[in-house]
Amino acid sequence: MAIILGIESSCDETSASICIDGEIKSNIIAGQAIHANYGGVVPELASRAHQQNIIPTVDQAILQAKITKNDVDAVAFTRGPGLLGSLLVGTSFAKSFALARRIPLIEVNHMQAHILAHFIDKPKPSFPFLCLTVSGGHTQIVLVKDYFDMELIGQTLDDAAGEAFDKTAKILNLPYPGGPLIDKYAQQGNADAFKLPEPQIPGLNFSFSGLKTAILYMVQGYLKDNPNFLDENLADICASVQKRIVSILLNKLKKAAKETGVKDIAIAGGVSANSGLRNSLLEMGAKYKWNVHIPQFEYCTDNAAMIAIAGYHKFLREDFVTQHIAPMARMTVES
Ligand code: KG4
Ligand code: ZN
Repeated sequence: MAIILGIESSCDETSASICIDGEIKSNIIAGQAIHANYGGVVPELASRAHQQNIIPTVDQAILQAKITKNDVDAVAFTRGPGLLGSLLVGTSFAKSFALARRIPLIEVNHMQAHILAHFIDKPKPSFPFLCLTVSGGHTQIVLVKDYFDMELIGQTLDDAAGEAFDKTAKILNLPYPGGPLIDKYAQQGNADAFKLPEPQIPGLNFSFSGLKTAILYMVQGYLKDNPNFLDENLADICASVQKRIVSILLNKLKKAAKETGVKDIAIAGGVSANSGLRNSLLEMGAKYKWNVHIPQFEYCTDNAAMIAIAGYHKFLREDFVTQHIAPMARMTVES
């Protein structure tokens, strides 16, 4: 039997999870509401909150899994990418826990873990599969050849899809993180109310900065004539923006599927919680006869269950690290 404790602290979510023989038994997530006051994650505040949250979060994960600390066989933690101060809290905790209990330490790449979240529930994707990873910091199309053998075949040249949602929300005077709110308002709006441009980027890469500027100019233009423009049109703007972001993402995913001939298609990362993206991907999957893989909501945004499952697969390979390991703010999905 293998019991893995997973720790995630790369951004503004402190999370701990217990995985027993590949099954997730607990996934505790402590969010940090404080950042909403600042319109984005404040790194210093995030590190402090991780420091406060980490011990109670781990205790709760262990309690909910009905085990004790002594039962844990290995600790897996997010090494990067992420905010260095945040990563340091999880890394230091994991190192101390492993050292005190003389158990193996496993480093996990956060971007790989978002993709490996697909191995938590059934049906699991079969290799090779394509994964569109869309989060606050990344927008990538990854060809997943094996658990830890991934090739980046497309990525954003500027903003990430999550940033496009969050920056739009800021223009609309909505609090951070704006993605879930835009999703909510979009459900009551007319997605054809406002026409927004689709960038013409060659290959499998993305760009979202032009869209953000177009939204800003559009809103400023309407506000000149009508100071109540935002209040009166919020749902329609959100629906139109969401429709355009989703079409940018899915058109490239369709292209990647065509070029690689791969039919197992997955989405991962915080933006994969978006209802418009989930619904449109299901429709596209039915049309092109893809096997579509969409994670449960709790495994889309940052969570330690994905770290624990990735850690479990490294445990099986005895892929351990020593106490010399340090967090890394920058890591690619291929590393
Ligand atoms: O993966 P994640 O939790 O953290 C990062 O590693 O970045 O992703 C967070 C991002 C934020 O930009 C947030 O606005 C976005 O995911 N997000 C959504 C939704 N839920 C979270 N964007 C659109 N629709 C949603 N329902
Ligand atoms: Zn993430």
